[in-house]
Amino acid sequence: MARILAIANQKGGVGKTTTALTLGAALARLGRRVLVMDLDPHGCASAHLGVFPEGLTASAADVFLAEDPLAVDWSAVIRVPGQAPFDLAPSHTRLADLDMDLKDRKGKGVLLRQALDAGPAYDHVLLDCPPHTGVVLVNALVASDLLIIPIQTDFLALHGVRHLFDTMRALNRVLPRPIAYRALATMFDRRARACTRVLELLRSKFKERMFATVIGLDTKFREASAAGKVVQELAPECRGAGEYARLAEEVAVL
Ligand SMILES: Nc1ncnc2c1ncn2[C@@H]1O[C@H](COP(=O)(O)OP(=O)(O)O)[C@@H](O)[C@H]1O
Ligand SMILES: [Mg+2]
Repeated sequence: MARILAIANQKGGVGKTTTALTLGAALARLGRRVLVMDLDPHGCASAHLGVFPEGLTASAADVFLAEDPLAVDWSAVIRVPGQAPFDLAPSHTRLADLDMDLKDRKGKGVLLRQALDAGPAYDHVLLDCPPHTGVVLVNALVASDLLIIPIQTDFLALHGVRHLFDTMRALNRVLPRPIAYRALATMFDRRARACTRVLELLRSKFKERMFATVIGLDTKFREASAAGKVVQELAPECRGAGEYARLAEEVAVL
């Protein structure tokens, strides 16, 4: 059964999408079969790979809307983008309406887990989560075997994380086992003393629940997004690609 990795932080711009795409590609390079699900209605991961909602017959939203989560038509949902070594379940703006659509649905928090358990065979499914609390984020957290929390190593690093921990605490009360998580320091600027202090703070707070790998600032990520590629395809030797390769090795043995 696939290992499900949710990538979430209620703060925007911390590297969630970059981590979903780049870690996904790094795991694929280790020979793993990888599916990336774009669960953010803004669809940045999909757009990054040149997939836009207008042209889609089905999207990640249909996984939640299927009458029977065990009978989702995954073949209609999944795309094989040429510019990335993994499969993609693209986003759709309808993801933003699911709180309304599923308002009265029984068991609405476990739809994604059920659908993935009955879904196609992958070694890893990476969930690029939306920044706001709602039924999609809850489904992703409930489905996850490991939650990866990218945290930008800046002054307000811990700001958005508080909301995420509130959501997790509420879920942990009803889940059979608490959600397993690891924090990932991102956009680390080795030349900035403030960044080093934030990293020390994160390490003292999260202790063993923090990845040893730190993702540094690398302009290649923005270039990759402009080129519609994952960074490994654009610049396989760049620092960022190397760091996500090390992260993949950590994730692979967790
Ligand atoms: N390590 C990094 N170094 C430099 N830029 C980065 C890095 N990680 C992400 N970015 C850039 O920062 C912006 C926000 O990242 P993104 O992954 O979209 O965040 P989120 O999904 O959390 O909103 C994007 O333009 C992305 O290319
Ligand atoms: Mg994003």
